[in-house]
Amino acid sequence: MLRSCIVCEDMAVSPDSSRLINGARASRARAWICVSLALLGLSPIAGSCQVRSPLPGPASTQAATLRDAGIAKHVVIGAAADPSHLGEMAYATTLAREFQQLEPENQMKFGPVHPRPGNDLSAYDFSPADQLVTFAQQHNMMVRGHCMVWHQQVAGWVTSGVASGKFGPAELNEILRSHISTVAQHYAGKVWAWDVVNEAFNDDGTLRSTVWYDAPGIGFAGKGTEYIEQAFRWAHAADPGAKLFYNDYDTERINTKSDAIYAMAKDFRSRGVPLDGIGFQVHVNLKFNNAEAMASFARNLKRFSDLGVEIHITELDVALDSGDPASFAAQADGYRKVTQICLQTPTCRVLQTWGFTDKYSWIPSYSHGKQGWALPFDAHYSKKPAYDSTLKALQAP
Ligand code: XIL
Repeated sequence: MLRSCIVCEDMAVSPDSSRLINGARASRARAWICVSLALLGLSPIAGSCQVRSPLPGPASTQAATLRDAGIAKHVVIGAAADPSHLGEMAYATTLAREFQQLEPENQMKFGPVHPRPGNDLSAYDFSPADQLVTFAQQHNMMVRGHCMVWHQQVAGWVTSGVASGKFGPAELNEILRSHISTVAQHYAGKVWAWDVVNEAFNDDGTLRSTVWYDAPGIGFAGKGTEYIEQAFRWAHAADPGAKLFYNDYDTERINTKSDAIYAMAKDFRSRGVPLDGIGFQVHVNLKFNNAEAMASFARNLKRFSDLGVEIHITELDVALDSGDPASFAAQADGYRKVTQICLQTPTCRVLQTWGFTDKYSWIPSYSHGKQGWALPFDAHYSKKPAYDSTLKALQAP
C-alpha cells in the first residue's frame, strides 16, 4: 500500500544541527499520521511521500522522492528558491515534495536584505526571506543561508558611500560587523548553515579585490584571508549554533583556486577559526562530464573531507546548449556522477541545485540566452532524465 502524505516527518535535526537523526520514532509518527488521516477519510494535501505499509513488500523498499532518498543516505537534498513563485501550486508542491532544504536564491544577500542605510532594524527588509523560512517550517524543511559577504549584490548605499569617500575602512568595518550580527541573529535557530563569505578568491588563488577586502575594505587590505576570518568570527559570535561555510565556484577540480581555499581551510581549522565547511557551487556544463574532471573533483572533495570540514554542494546545475534528448541524456550522466561523488565523500552532507525547474533557472540570463535546460525539472515541472539519474544514484545500495 502506498499513500500520499502531507509532510515527510522522517528527519529531525539535533540541537547543534550537525547530526541528522533519521529515527524510527519519526517514521512511525509519520505512518501513524497518514493512516489516521486515511481512517478519517481525509485526503492528504500538498506534497507527497511514500509511506510504507506495515507489511513488508518489494515495492515498499525504495524512497520515491529525492528528499526521502537523500534522507536514507544522510545527504540533505536542497534547492535554491524564490518566494515570488511560492503562490504557483506546481512550484510549491514540487519544492516541498522533493527537497529537504531550501536556500533563498537572492533574498538574504546584502543588497536585498539590507537595502537602506543604517544599522538599525528599519534599514533591513527581512520579509521576502522570511516567507521562504515560513514555507520551509511549514514543510519540515531546513534552511541554508546565503550569503553575508560577497562582492555582488552589495547595497547601493554601501557602494555609493564608498565611491563618495563617505565610507572608509573604519565605517565599512562597523557596517559589515553590524550587518552580519543582525542577519545572523534574526535567523538564529532558523538557518542551520550559512555561506558567510562567497567567491572571495580569484582563479589564480589570490584574493579578489572587493569593497570588503581592499577597495577600501574593512581594515585588512593586503592581509590575505584575515578579513574572511573576521567575518567568520562575527558570524559565530552572533549565532554560535549555525554552521559556517566558505562558498565558491570553479573549485570542483584541484586547481590554484581550490588549492588556496584548501590552504585557508587548513589554516582556519588549525587555529580554531569557526569554519565548519566549504561550499562547492558546481555550476558546470557538459564539458565537466569527462573522466579527468570527475576524477579531479572526487580527489578534491576527498582532501577537504580528510581535513574534517563538512562539504556542501551548494549551487549545482548542468547548463546545456540545447534541450534535445541527447543533451538531456548527457546531462543526466553528469548529475549521476556528481551525486555519486558526493555520496562517496565521507563529509559531503548537502546536495543542492540552484533552483529546480528550468522555468526559473538563472542560466539563460547569465549566459545571455546561449545556454539553459540546466535543472532536474523542465519548465512544466516534469521530471527530466537528470532527475531520474540523481534519484537512482541516491537509491543505489
Ligand atoms: C545569482 C541568482 O541566481 C540570480 O538571480 C542573480 O541575479 C545573481 O545571482 N553564485 C552565487 C549565487 O553564489 O548567489 C548567484 O546567484 C549565482 C552564482
